Amino acid sequence: MKLFLDTANLQEIEQAMDWGVIDGVTTNPTLVAKEGGDFKALLKEICRLVPGPVSAEVMGTNANEMVQEAQELAAVGSQVVIKVPMTPDGLQAVVELKKQGIRTNVTLVFSANQALLAAKAGAAFVSPFLGRLDDLGHDGVSLVDEVCGIFSAYAMESEVIAASIRHPLHVIQVAKVGSHIATIPFAVLKQMFKHPMTDLGIERFLADWASANQGK
Ligand code: E4P
Repeated sequence: MKLFLDTANLQEIEQAMDWGVIDGVTTNPTLVAKEGGDFKALLKEICRLVPGPVSAEVMGTNANEMVQEAQELAAVGSQVVIKVPMTPDGLQAVVELKKQGIRTNVTLVFSANQALLAAKAGAAFVSPFLGRLDDLGHDGVSLVDEVCGIFSAYAMESEVIAASIRHPLHVIQVAKVGSHIATIPFAVLKQMFKHPMTDLGIERFLADWASANQGK
């Protein structure tokens, strides 16, 4: 399973890339707004750090606006993937952008039907939002499972990005149901490293080594 980092923060991206575990990045308007500054300049910096897919979201609400914005964002780097919302206009933009060789990521997907439509339209990536479903008392992991099952049954080309991940258990759960990708916040990535037995083990090895080498 590929791991994408869900952030627009350059320090986080740089650190995660140094750890060698990140295959791509997803951003959204909220994450970009948190960083401030010029969006295209930020996107360019992200593309300098990340050779894999970097999702950048359009803000237009009709297909023409989305396509025009997408062309400008895609010009920033060949790895840029255009995030479009799961609306009829969004899917119309997906069709047009595919003709132009620009990859898309259909975002804000909350049902298997929406995922199916996005894949039919030709999205390279489809992003079901599990955390936001969990927040409402629905089962986000089941949605990812359902979508992966449908895409696999019909050998659909779109890759599933499990998005809106809230904690390390989500990552394990979506890996087990076969999600192609999980996009994770930096805080969750750091939690994934952690195990108290690892810390204890290091502490013990260091102490044993120090006592055996005392006075040498
Ligand atoms: C990723 O593509 C989404 O923008 C992101 O995972 C949303 O996460 P949130 O529900 O925590 O805002």
